[in-house]
Amino acid sequence: MPNLSGRTVLITGAASGIGAAAARRLSADGARVVLADLDGAKVEKVAGELGQVAVKADVTRSEDIERMVEEVYRRWGRLDVLFNNAGVIRVQPMFDVTGEEWDRVMNVNLRAAFFVLQAAARRMARQEVMPGSDLRGKLVHTASIAAFRGGNHMMTPYSASKAAVVSLTRSAAQALAPQRITSNCVCPGAVETPMWEQIDREWGALEGAGEGEMWKRRIRGIPLGRPERPEDVANVIAFLAGPDSDYMTGQAVIVDGGMVMGN
Ligand SMILES: NC(=O)c1ccc[n+]([C@@H]2O[C@H](COP(=O)([O-])OP(=O)(O)OC[C@H]3O[C@@H](n4cnc5c(N)ncnc54)[C@H](O)[C@@H]3O)[C@@H](O)[C@H]2O)c1
Repeated sequence: MPNLSGRTVLITGAASGIGAAAARRLSADGARVVLADLDGAKVEKVAGELGQVAVKADVTRSEDIERMVEEVYRRWGRLDVLFNNAGVIRVQPMFDVTGEEWDRVMNVNLRAAFFVLQAAARRMARQEVMPGSDLRGKLVHTASIAAFRGGNHMMTPYSASKAAVVSLTRSAAQALAPQRITSNCVCPGAVETPMWEQIDREWGALEGAGEGEMWKRRIRGIPLGRPERPEDVANVIAFLAGPDSDYMTGQAVIVDGGMVMGN
């Protein structure tokens, strides 16, 4: 039953994987969505299929952040939900991490996540509450179980960035509660997306494992017995974007088939 009728949503990293699945799910639930991504052609295609709006934007650039947020206000006059989801990764041993690589991952996953949430919340704080709610807006970020789980030494900057996203989620929740804006994050596990294809490739090359081998090893131990699909995350995003989660803020919601319990 659609429960997002009329809600306006901005999704970053919307051309692929989890972002695209969230765009599909929230559209089906009645939301109006701006899909933003670095990959202009791909985001246009996904948005076109959904009858929604595409914006080519690099979230590490302040002018692009302003432009994508402005697009939502120009069209609909308000932004109800930000899904702050764009992210990048690199699998490499800790001793091989260079300053450039550290900065690249941190710039997208952490610095941009902060400035996107800041830009969105600044505008949200000045708008009326959402129809049928006592909130002005909702922020939903994408962290990861890498924020909590050991064994991520092959993705040290990535894991650090995602732990910091959990921290950002909570700082924003406290800072913005008086404005009646909530901030929560989702922590996916091992999701079948192009990002995991990259992880499998890079990790496999380091371990001398064939294509698909690292993925097989990763999903073998999932208690619920199957890999995570982007739709598994999108279902929880629909909950965090909708009215049923209006009394939640500052939470890191793990959606991983049971890999991490009791963080
Ligand atoms: N796949 C997983 O197993 C997994 C697990 C936990 C968390 N996550 C997180 O979920 C989010 C989505 O990942 P995914 O698996 O769907 O990956 P994906 O690679 O399929 O999609 C990521 C999207 O982000 C976009 N992007 C990258 N840099 C950008 C930038 N500077 N500006 C705008 N867009 C940019 C890419 O173009 C791509 O479309 C990421 O934050 C990722 O860290 C993924």
